[in-house]
Order: sequence, then C-alpha cells, then structure tokens
Amino acid sequence: MKCLELLLFLLLFVRDIGAQWNVWMPRDISAMTNSCVVIPCTFMYPASIRPYRGIHGIWYFGQPYPQLFPPVVYKSRTEIVHESYKGRTRLLGDLLQKNCTLQISNIGAEHSGRYYFRADLGGANIYTYPDFTELKVLDQPNIDVPEEIVTDESLDLTCYAPDNCPEMSPEIHWMYTDYLPDPLFTTDFVEEGNTAVMSSTLTFTPRPMHNGQLLGCRVHYPNTTFFYERLISLDVKYAPRKVWVNVSQEVMEGNSVVLHCDVDSNPPPRISWHFKDEELMSDIASNASLYLESLTPEQEGVYTCVGDNGYGVMNTSLYLAVRYPPREPWVNGSLTVLEGTSLALHCGTQGNPAPTLTWLKDGELVGTITADEVSVLELLEIRPQADGTYRCLAENEHGRASTSLNITVEFAPILLDDSKCTIVREGVQCVCIASGNPEPSIEFYLPDLNITINETNGRFNYYTHSDGYTSTGMIKLRDKGERGNNGGTAVHVHCSITNMYGTETIRLELQQEKKYMMAVIVGTIGGVAVIAFIIAAVRYVGQNNKKENSNPGQDVGSKVENPSMFYSAVKKDKQSLRKKVLKTELLGSKFNSILEESTGDDSDYQPVGSMAGLERQELNYAALEFMRGRPREGGLGRGDDGSDYTEIKAK
Ligand SMILES: *[C@@H]1O[C@H](CO)[C@@H](O)[C@H](O)[C@H]1NC(C)=O
Ligand SMILES: *[C@@H]1O[C@H](CO)[C@@H](O)[C@H](O)[C@H]1NC(C)=O
Ligand SMILES: *[C@@H]1O[C@H](CO)[C@@H](O)[C@H](O)[C@H]1NC(C)=O
Ligand SMILES: *[C@@H]1O[C@H](CO)[C@@H](O)[C@H](O)[C@H]1NC(C)=O
Ligand SMILES: *[C@@H]1O[C@H](CO)[C@@H](O)[C@H](O)[C@H]1NC(C)=O
Ligand SMILES: *[C@@H]1O[C@H](CO)[C@@H](O)[C@H](O)[C@H]1NC(C)=O
Ligand SMILES: *[C@@H]1O[C@H](CO)[C@@H](O)[C@H](O)[C@H]1NC(C)=O
Ligand SMILES: *[C@@H]1O[C@H](CO)[C@@H](O)[C@H](O)[C@H]1NC(C)=O
Ligand SMILES: *[C@@H]1O[C@H](CO)[C@@H](O)[C@H](O)[C@H]1NC(C)=O
Repeated sequence: MKCLELLLFLLLFVRDIGAQWNVWMPRDISAMTNSCVVIPCTFMYPASIRPYRGIHGIWYFGQPYPQLFPPVVYKSRTEIVHESYKGRTRLLGDLLQKNCTLQISNIGAEHSGRYYFRADLGGANIYTYPDFTELKVLDQPNIDVPEEIVTDESLDLTCYAPDNCPEMSPEIHWMYTDYLPDPLFTTDFVEEGNTAVMSSTLTFTPRPMHNGQLLGCRVHYPNTTFFYERLISLDVKYAPRKVWVNVSQEVMEGNSVVLHCDVDSNPPPRISWHFKDEELMSDIASNASLYLESLTPEQEGVYTCVGDNGYGVMNTSLYLAVRYPPREPWVNGSLTVLEGTSLALHCGTQGNPAPTLTWLKDGELVGTITADEVSVLELLEIRPQADGTYRCLAENEHGRASTSLNITVEFAPILLDDSKCTIVREGVQCVCIASGNPEPSIEFYLPDLNITINETNGRFNYYTHSDGYTSTGMIKLRDKGERGNNGGTAVHVHCSITNMYGTETIRLELQQEKKYMMAVIVGTIGGVAVIAFIIAAVRYVGQNNKKENSNPGQDVGSKVENPSMFYSAVKKDKQSLRKKVLKTELLGSKFNSILEESTGDDSDYQPVGSMAGLERQELNYAALEFMRGRPREGGLGRGDDGSDYTEIKAK
C-alpha cells in the first residue's frame, strides 16, 4: 500500500514538474499605428496550487518587477490601468482556461515595447512570467529589397503588413508600377508563431532605365481612413551601356584640346582615356576630361575612353587630327652632272593635311603636282638647259615651305655661231665664242704659220673673257701679211675650244669684202652712228609689221589692246644692242669700235634671246623667235642665227 502511495506521489510529482510556472506568447509581434493587436497568450501554473477565489492576471509594460511599478496595461481584479492604456485593452482569453490573450486597440508609437504577464492565483501564489512579447508599432510597412538589384535579372520585392488585429485586415497595393514591364503581384498570408503577416510580392525584370525610379507599397485598412506608405528608390546595377565622347576633332599643332567622356553606368565606372596602348588618365566618376596641351603631330590618332564598373566594360573612340603646315621639304643635295645623264630628284615632307609637292625650275613649274608623300622629278638625258635651281614647294591649307637644290650640267664645248673673222681697219680680228661647262679654253691656230695662240705675245694680241658657261676668245692679226704666206685672200684661222669633256676645232670664215667695206665705214663713223642706223631700221620694220597687222582681216582685239608693245619691242632690241656694245667694250677697249653686228648686212643683227620675253601675240616674228630661240636661251643662246630676222623682213 505504502509502495502504491509512493508511486502515486512520484506520478503526481512528475506531473507537477510538467506543470510548472510557464507562459506561451510570441516573442515578437507587430502592429500598424492606429490599428489593434492581439497578443495570444496561455499560461501554466503548478498543479499543486489550488487557485483561491478565482484566477486573476496582470499585464505589465516594460518590465516584470511589480516593486518597480511598471505601467499596468491590464488588470483583471480592478479596472485601474496606466493612463496610456485606458480604454484600449481587453482580455480576450479566459483566465480560468489559462488563456491570457490580450487585445490592445488604437495603438500608438508609445506602445512599442515588452509586455509581461503576471498570474495571481490568490494568496502567495502570484507569479510574473519572465517571458515577454515585444510589440513593434510600425507607421510604415516593410519592404524586403534584395541587397543587389541587377539589370535584366528577375526581381522580387515583398511588402509586409502585420495582420494581428481581428477587426481590421490590411490590404496591400504597389504604387508607381505603371512604367514597369509586366509587373506580377502575388499576395500571401503567413502565420508563424501565433503572429500573422500579410505580404504582397511584386515581380518584374528591371532595366537600366528603372535605376533611381521610385516604387511604393501602400497598406490600407478598409472602412478606415488609415493608410501607410513606404517608398523605395530602385538601385539597379548595370554595366556601362553608353560611352559618349566628343566627335572627332581637328586641331592645329601647338593648340590645346579637352576631350570629354561621359559613361552611363551604375555604379559609376572607372573611366580611363587610352592612346596607343597607353592609359593617359583615369578616374572613378561618370565623366572624365582629358586635357591635351601644346599638341604635336605625334599626338594625332585614336583616343579611346573606357568605362568599367565591374558589371561590364565599354569603350568609344574618337580620332584627333593634329593639323600643321608643311615642314621644310628634304631634297637631294645640289648636283653636278654630265650632260646626257638621267637623274631622279626626290622631295619629301610632312604636313597635315598631306601637302602637295610641286617642282619648280628657276621659278617655272616642271613636272606634275602630286599629293604623294614623295615627289620624284625625273630628268632624262639631261641637256645643258637643265642647269639651274630646282625648288620643291610643299603646300597645304596651313602654309607652304620649300627647299631648293642646284643642278649644274657639265658639257663638252660648243662653238657658237658668232665666231668669225672680220676685216677691220687695223687688220683682221677673229672672235671665237664657245659654250661649255667647265668653261672652255680657247686657242687659235694659224695653220699657215704653224702657230698656236693662247696668250698675248709679241705678234698677237689675245684676249679671253668668260661669262657663265660662255667663253669668248679674240685675236687680232695686225698686218695683212699675217693673213697668209701665199698672200691670197684666204686667211686660215682655226679655233679650238676645249674643256675636260672634249675639244672642238673649226676653221673660222673670213667675212666678205662687202663686210670689209662696211667695217671700214663703221670704223670711221663710229659705233654710235651704226646704232642709230640699226634702231631706225628696226623701227622701220616694226612699223611695217604694224601696218601689216592693221590688215582688217586679222584679229582686231589683239592689236588694239596693246599697241605700245610694238614700241617696247623695239626698245628691247635697242637695249639688247646696247648690251652687246657694252659686252664688246668689256672684251677690250681697243676693240670698242668693232661690232660684229654692225657689218652692214641686216641678217647679222640678231635680236636673240631678249625677244623671248615678249608677249608672243604681239608680234608674229616674236612668236617665231620665241619658239626657235627657247632651247638656247639663258646664256647659251647667244649664237642664234639671224634667219629669224630675215623672216620678219619677208612678212
Ligand atoms: C484563447 O482565447 C482566444 C480568444 O477567445 C481564442 O481565440 C484562442 O483560441 C484561445 N486560445 C486557446 C489556446 O484556447
Ligand atoms: C466595410 O463597410 C461596409 C459597410 O459600411 C461593409 O459592407 C463591408 O463589409 C466592410 N468591409 C470590411 C472589410 O469591414
Ligand atoms: C567635348 O564635349 C564637351 C561636352 O560634351 C564640350 O564641353 C567640349 O567643348 C567638347 N570639346 C571639344 C574640343 O569640342
Ligand atoms: C561630371 O561628373 C561630376 C561628378 O563626378 C558631376 O558633378 C558633373 O556634373 C559631371 N559633368 C557632366 C558634364 O556630366
Ligand atoms: C574597345 O572595345 C573593343 C571591342 O568592343 C576592343 O576590341 C578594344 O580592345 C577596346 N579598346 C580598349 C582600349 O579597351
Ligand atoms: C635623291 O635622293 C633619293 C633619296 O635619298 C635617292 O634615292 C636618289 O638616288 C637621289 N638622287 C640623286 C640624283 O642623287
Ligand atoms: C644655288 O645657286 C645659287 C647661285 O647660283 C646660290 O645662291 C644658291 O645658294 C645655291 N643653292 C644651293 C641649294 O646650293
Ligand atoms: C709645226 O711646228 C711644230 C713645232 O712647233 C712641228 O713639230 C711641226 O712639225 C710643224 N708642223 C708643220 C706642218 O710644219
Ligand atoms: C698656252 O699653251 C701652252 C702650251 O699648250 C701652255 O703651256 C700655256 O700654259 C697656255 N697658256 C694659257 C694662258 O693657257
């Protein structure tokens, strides 16, 4: 029996252990302001306790220690509660059923905090449970936003509203979703640990354009004026989707330029400017400027701006052109060449835009104008006329530059037609004129006497003069006896012209007797009279020519346009004549009365190269002269034959 009693006692004891002071209430619960909340609660007390005069309960706020007088939220024994809970609390549970469920209505922010329950079973059996419920009073719903929102990846945004008030059930709406692509809304109700939460999930795929956009969640209790809103700003991460740079630029060298780069990305990228595999600058920003000062042609090229924000990389390039005037062209050095050789002269330069290259010879265009990097002027089988200054001219819109070189053509001597012997008062004078480079030396040979004359000696006066590539040699045979041993009329005088490229020897002709007479007259009257005579003759011819040109059948315009040119043509002739006189004077004052041009025959007087400068439309003969005289102009053409003039007379 005792044994049975003991067993019973043990059973009771075990049952008592299972029925200690215990309470069950949610650890956390939340509510919107102005709504209500029901805190579900059940409690246990030791079975050994027989409640005395019913079961009472107290809800405290803040702390479980009555001796510290925490605010009384609810008290079943009296209706006395703390001021802030007056008329707001109601015990929904039946304490006899160990149900301590509490409703708090018209909640305000001040009601946030811990709630403790104290069971009063009568007598000394009063117990405050240490477990509590923490109430959170919200004035905004919560939105669950993923830590990282990435463009083009499906996004779930969930808005939560507590649903712990049986009288009021929330409704959730999303705001500002009009611009979203295919938004999807899912409403859910989650019960957990005796508390309930209403949720609405918005699902869509954000795009870069949605970065920074506002979205909102609105909670409303139907049939009330209460609503709660929360706004969020979307932070949509996206790789650089556009990199803007300046349009390609053209800048003069020495100037400065600022290249600007703007990158659209989130977060802002690391921007860098690149040129020829080199990073010039970088910055973590949405834009970056590259400052280039005192530009040089080497800085021309492709500039690339790269934006990299960890989600992707993008770049855009521009071309920076650095303009500059042509540099001084490089050309071959001056050359001395032998007649008949062929040459290629090269000219090159730099400039931007690419300069045109032009070859000029003594100021006149030769060859073609090219826009190539190098211009090659080919001179094939060079003739003496190719001698001169060659200039390569480089031009672009920003300027011009040129470099010149001299081509010196060496050639074997040529005897010019002026060479001859004439009878003069004192005897016979022989003149030998030759062209050659190096300038030829001249010597005379008298075959009858077997004498070579290259310098003045006791018997002969010998003079030489050199002007450019033309050499003039002159001897005077003083007495007629020297004309020949046989006393005949023929004087045999040979002239040899020599330079390193050759020797030419010819026999000089003695002018006719008529010329001799003329020479005597000239010798007597003097050169001045002859000049006057020649001027008169030329004027006469010029006027004749003018008359002919007045022929109504001919073009009127050209003759009326510039009638004075006839005079100037004559004047030119006079000048050239004067030059010849001067030249003769230079050869030796002793011979100043001797003019090979003045020998009376008009065909001996030659206008020569000086006529080349005339406008050809003015005088037909000038045109003829020009065409024929040209190949020998420039110091080489002295010896043109007089037939041109004869042609004028024939007109
Ligand atoms: C306690 O009382 C509330 C209100 O009457 C009720 O809804 C709840 O179900 C009760 N709890 C238990 C465990 O019976
Ligand atoms: C709101 O009030 C109307 C009547 O005023 C009632 O018909 C309706 O059921 C109420 N709705 C809610 C959710 O209480
Ligand atoms: C480059 O663009 C920026 C703005 O886009 C502008 O301010 C700047 O003047 C431009 N630079 C040049 C050289 O045009
Ligand atoms: C460049 O970026 C800075 C901030 O990094 C900003 O203040 C400025 O407005 C931007 N400039 C332009 C032209 O976008
Ligand atoms: C720019 O992008 C192209 C391809 O999009 C890439 O080939 C190139 O290397 C990039 N340039 C730089 C400087 O990053
Ligand atoms: C001129 O220079 C070019 C380039 O240096 C060279 O090829 C060419 O042979 C030269 N011409 C002469 C005639 O020296
Ligand atoms: C070419 O010759 C002229 C004179 O004949 C001289 O003044 C000039 O300096 C020369 N040019 C070069 C490049 O040698
Ligand atoms: C000319 O003179 C030279 C010597 O001065 C002599 O050797 C030569 O035989 C002479 N010739 C004639 C044809 O006499
Ligand atoms: C003239 O010729 C002789 C013999 O060939 C020579 O020795 C002399 O140097 C020459 N004189 C001149 C001025 O050239």
